[in-house]
Amino acid sequence: MIRYEKLDGPFGRSVYGLDLADGIPDGKFQRLTKALYDHRVLVLKNQACSVDQYLKFGRLWGTPIQHVVHTSRTPDYPDLLSVGNLPDKDDVSRNSAAFWHTDQAYEADVATATMLYARKVPSIGGETRIVDTKAAYDDLDSSIKKNIENLMAVHFYGSTSGRDGERKTRELTDSQAARVPPVLHPLVRPHTITGEQALYAVAGTAFAIDGMKEGESNSLIATLKAHCLQDKYLYAHKYEVGDIAIWDTQMTLHCATPIGAPKNPDSERLLWRISVRGKPAIYQ
Ligand SMILES: [Fe+2]
Repeated sequence: MIRYEKLDGPFGRSVYGLDLADGIPDGKFQRLTKALYDHRVLVLKNQACSVDQYLKFGRLWGTPIQHVVHTSRTPDYPDLLSVGNLPDKDDVSRNSAAFWHTDQAYEADVATATMLYARKVPSIGGETRIVDTKAAYDDLDSSIKKNIENLMAVHFYGSTSGRDGERKTRELTDSQAARVPPVLHPLVRPHTITGEQALYAVAGTAFAIDGMKEGESNSLIATLKAHCLQDKYLYAHKYEVGDIAIWDTQMTLHCATPIGAPKNPDSERLLWRISVRGKPAIYQ
């Protein structure tokens, strides 16, 4: 029996009674996708599955993305990124997600879901903060909705390095940068499954509005970002070992809590990340 419980925040559900090691029949998976699209974030509790079982689950949601930064990939598993603060990570790698963004918004074919499987969690810190950009959009005045409905934002990787006091992301090599030229995405983007509208990627990789003067464009992006980051739209997930947190990257922004190098096993953080693009196979 699968049980959904409200998370300790304005949105999201924890999910009990599902064991990925057993696989998931289509009917159960369809209900899980519906729960994600209704609630933005699901946390599957008490998982103890293998890498292969986790990847099989990830592929139900779409096509895994191999990150442009090759060094983040896990040996033998290019679809899996190891995230955290283990000694193989320098400060930039430890904190490469410690700025507000949504995944792969710097590519034409964006991420549609991201999941993190908690393997080691620090007793203090290590949260992922997530905001609901559909709720933030729904709350905008109708006049603002009208003004922004047809605007396109220009995105590229690392564009916000250091902006708003946020940490710098890793600079790409020339060949990596050549793979991810600037792209346009609607500022108000309909969800590819539900058709519902949300503010899309108004932080992180957005650095201009197409056809708008720089000052006006920067001001609009900053205003929409600040609107989304209000506490009433924010959930911070404190992981337990065995959690698989999955969020709808089309209707959220997220930001990792900055973390230092581990001082002892109690301060180690390791999560396995899968991000996918496209639709779940059951919707194709
Ligand atoms: Fe991310």
